Amino acid sequence: MRFVVFAGVLMMAACGGKKPAPADVVAAEDGADKPAEDAAAKAEDAAAKAEDAAAKAEDAAAKAEDAAAKAEDAAAGDAATTGDAAAAAGDAAAGPSAEVLARGEYIAGVAGCALCHTAFGPKGPALDKMWAGGLEIPEAFGTWRSPNITQDKKTGIGGWSDEEIIAAVRQGKRPDGSQMYPIMPYPFYNAMSDGDAKALVAYLRTIPAIENAVAGNTDLKLPKMEVPPAKGAEPGDDPVKRGEYLAALAHCAVCHTPMGPEGMDMSKFMAGGSPMEIPAFGEGALHPPNLTPHPETGIGTWTDAEITTALREMKKKDGSPILGPMAMYQMGWAKISDQDIAAIIAYLRSLPPIENAVPKSTFKPHGPPPDAPPPGDADAGAAPGGDDKADAAP
Ligand code: HEC
Ligand code: HEC
Repeated sequence: MRFVVFAGVLMMAACGGKKPAPADVVAAEDGADKPAEDAAAKAEDAAAKAEDAAAKAEDAAAKAEDAAAKAEDAAAGDAATTGDAAAAAGDAAAGPSAEVLARGEYIAGVAGCALCHTAFGPKGPALDKMWAGGLEIPEAFGTWRSPNITQDKKTGIGGWSDEEIIAAVRQGKRPDGSQMYPIMPYPFYNAMSDGDAKALVAYLRTIPAIENAVAGNTDLKLPKMEVPPAKGAEPGDDPVKRGEYLAALAHCAVCHTPMGPEGMDMSKFMAGGSPMEIPAFGEGALHPPNLTPHPETGIGTWTDAEITTALREMKKKDGSPILGPMAMYQMGWAKISDQDIAAIIAYLRSLPPIENAVPKSTFKPHGPPPDAPPPGDADAGAAPGGDDKADAAP
């Protein structure tokens, strides 16, 4: 497949209007909880003296800073030190709960991590090497490949601390401080809440290590892009806000917004993407349709059920299959909860209707479609243990 439009993420700092948060918020938070609780407990013990409690709160703040400094030290240290620090942090927290792991798996599914971080063979994704990287996609700006994000210490991210993985996901920063290319959709994942980011990392920790060295991307003619530290806020229960959040994690706009000379053309946000060609898999072009509620050129007349079927079953209004890269997301999106599907629909319906007629796709796959997982295998990649539940979303 040919994700030509992934360069579109270049303009996506504008998407959702996320405000920057202080740089140390994420690093400090983990360390801050415990001492703060201690201080609170001690304050209760001392049981009267407000002054005493205040002093201890200051103490807790100092400890939190200390913890943040240690986290930074760990980030600067070698992989082994960092791994130990992560292991120690894990012990202290007594391991994540089943709900947290299910949430992490769910977020990974919405965000489509596995489909990009798994090599693609003639028969589809390499299911025996899920998460081990090596997907190679030729684009106009060069051929990019995805890294191994299994827990292997040498060739994967097993040696990275939780904070380092979260910085990679939400800011595209590696532990050595280098910036990633925005093919990794970190400008969208920047919206990920702290709770979901931690759950995602807890889930990634359960992915078995696979040793698979993948060469890095060095010579792409694509600018790297810095994004502000993530705000980390929870989307809340308002369906439109929640839907906006989920659509950011699912990065719908990457494909469904056209590219202009400077990146995404935000005046046509979600009003239909630039055409995609995938010569390796088929002839013709895919035209990502207009998703705004415009009645003639968008999906304004679609029913909720029709949009749900598009997202979960990858079928258009007329029942024909949605072809190309979007179909790859089905393994995660088939499991999006009813509430979250309703939120995505509410968000799509809240977009300003934009008149923009998108031509029908002319894409014809060579042979059977390589994009859809074989029947019955839709779950194969989602959980290494194969124990995933359809409605796992908390
Ligand atoms: C559209 C494809 C795509 C999706 C979706 C995607 N990634 Fe990536 N990811 C990449 C590419 C490509 C790189 C390498 C970027 C570079 O070399 O600058 C990368 C880099 C990374 C890295 C850094 C690894 C290293 O060794 O440098 C981590 C960690 C990572 N991704 C985790 C994730 C997680 C977790 C998700 C889901 C929340 C995800 N990715 C979703 C394509 C993707
Ligand atoms: C990787 C690119 C990509 C991503 C990400 C993506 N789509 Fe699509 N989508 C497409 C393409 C390409 C088509 C057209 C496929 C075809 O013509 O066979 C499409 C088709 C659709 C359709 C059918 C519309 C019609 O008029 O037939 C809907 C609805 C849709 N997408 C919604 C979404 C939503 C909502 C998201 C995010 C949750 C999303 N897409 C994310 C590429 C993408």
